[in-house]
Amino acid sequence: MEQLPETNLPATKKIILTALALLLLGMFFGILGSLQYVVPGILKTQLSFEKIRPLHVSSVVFWIMLAASGGVLTYAGERSGKLFSRLLAKIQWLLFLFSVVAILTSYMLGIFGGREYWEFPPLLAIPVWLGWLLFTINLVGTIRTFKQQPVYVWMWLTGAFGFLFIFSESYLWMLPFFQKSIVRDMTVQWKSYGSMVGCWNMLVYGSGIYLMEKISKDPTPARSRMAFALYFLSLTNLMFNWSHHIYTLPILPAIKHIGYLISMSELYILGRIIYKWKSSVKEARKFEYQLPYRFLIAADVWVFLNLILAILMSIPAVNLYTHGTHITVAHVMGTTIGINSMLLMAVVTDVLDNTCRSLYIYQKKITQGLVTANLSLFVFLGALLMAGIKRSQWQMSDHRVPFGEMMHNLIPYFILFSMAGIVLFGAFCVMVYPLVKNVWACYTVRQPQSTVTPSFN
Ligand code: HEM
Repeated sequence: MEQLPETNLPATKKIILTALALLLLGMFFGILGSLQYVVPGILKTQLSFEKIRPLHVSSVVFWIMLAASGGVLTYAGERSGKLFSRLLAKIQWLLFLFSVVAILTSYMLGIFGGREYWEFPPLLAIPVWLGWLLFTINLVGTIRTFKQQPVYVWMWLTGAFGFLFIFSESYLWMLPFFQKSIVRDMTVQWKSYGSMVGCWNMLVYGSGIYLMEKISKDPTPARSRMAFALYFLSLTNLMFNWSHHIYTLPILPAIKHIGYLISMSELYILGRIIYKWKSSVKEARKFEYQLPYRFLIAADVWVFLNLILAILMSIPAVNLYTHGTHITVAHVMGTTIGINSMLLMAVVTDVLDNTCRSLYIYQKKITQGLVTANLSLFVFLGALLMAGIKRSQWQMSDHRVPFGEMMHNLIPYFILFSMAGIVLFGAFCVMVYPLVKNVWACYTVRQPQSTVTPSFN
């Protein structure tokens, strides 16, 4: 096939494609991890659980960070007509690419040195931080003015600046002042992790709200009181939601409960915004943006399902049981897959639809993938919850069944979890493949000029 010499893929799309590769890679590592639940000791010499877990978690965390930053830059450029600097976006992409490859390689080689979730050698945090700095500069340059901006612009700016600050904070443990006191050390550690999640939520929710405005062509919701309530709640959440992560530390109970209340009201408002928007979108607009629309609706359903779980987990008596069980893992994966990943898939299908040709011909396939992903996610989380309930019963029981025996009894749930994870992975492959193929088509299929939509970045 003929090569199109004039096609130059913007760095923002390269960032998004790298994010999609990390999503699939991360899910693959997740499957390997789940198999280790089922057959303890499998792959122990090559890829033990100590390596697989950070490989999985870091890959999926970078999926969220990269897809969010690529989506935000694309949308900011779309609003102002032009991205501030393509060069900065390109350097950002290269820095992220270098960091991710170095981080995953260091895990594979068994070279650690960081803390949970960022277990890589701390030196590798420098290119990640620099990449994010360039993203922030590019975002500010593209937005240009702070006057009379809709809520999503504030969310993007807060998420971008917040992450720079909080990512640095998460390395305070390297200073002796924090290392010397375990409570101080752990409090700062968990505070920074909670706030970091708050930062990427700002980017993801902000992009979701922008996309809703784009689909409905109605600028009012993004300027409504409800939207700004979500912004201020998310901001408070970003600063205080960490408190529910430290249930086991000796701090005031009120602090923990305030944290929980804020994060739940945030989820509730996000759910309501999508729900209200859904009923206001005209059929023709839904049809034009069918894929992003469906991903947004899927995210809305997961907001409410996760809200129910979060409410249950926030009851102190229940939290006592759920702490340290697979229920917590179900809560974390429920929100990162059901809410963050679904919203990001909405953004990604919208952004990559603007690549040489329309995604229209793949609509049916992607929708089938989306339905399968949601059904399998339901089973996946259900299996984790069941395993968690059984484990918490064991934790609280007076009859001391040995740990190994309890884990053995959980194997049927782990098999279900693993199988549902494999189907989930397959469904994501079905959704991601057309997106990548569409980009590939830019290089291999000559399009009539009229079908090529202009790219803003
Ligand atoms: C978009 C897809 C996914 C995302 C965003 C995601 C996210 C996460 C996160 C954030 C954690 C850390 C949880 C915690 O610290 O409590 C985690 C753990 C884990 N995930 Fe996933 N995950 C995804 C898909 C999968 C899949 C498909 C599988 C495989 C069946 C899987 C298996 C696991 C396992 C085994 C753990 C370790 C739990 C433990 O520490 O015992 N994940 N995942």
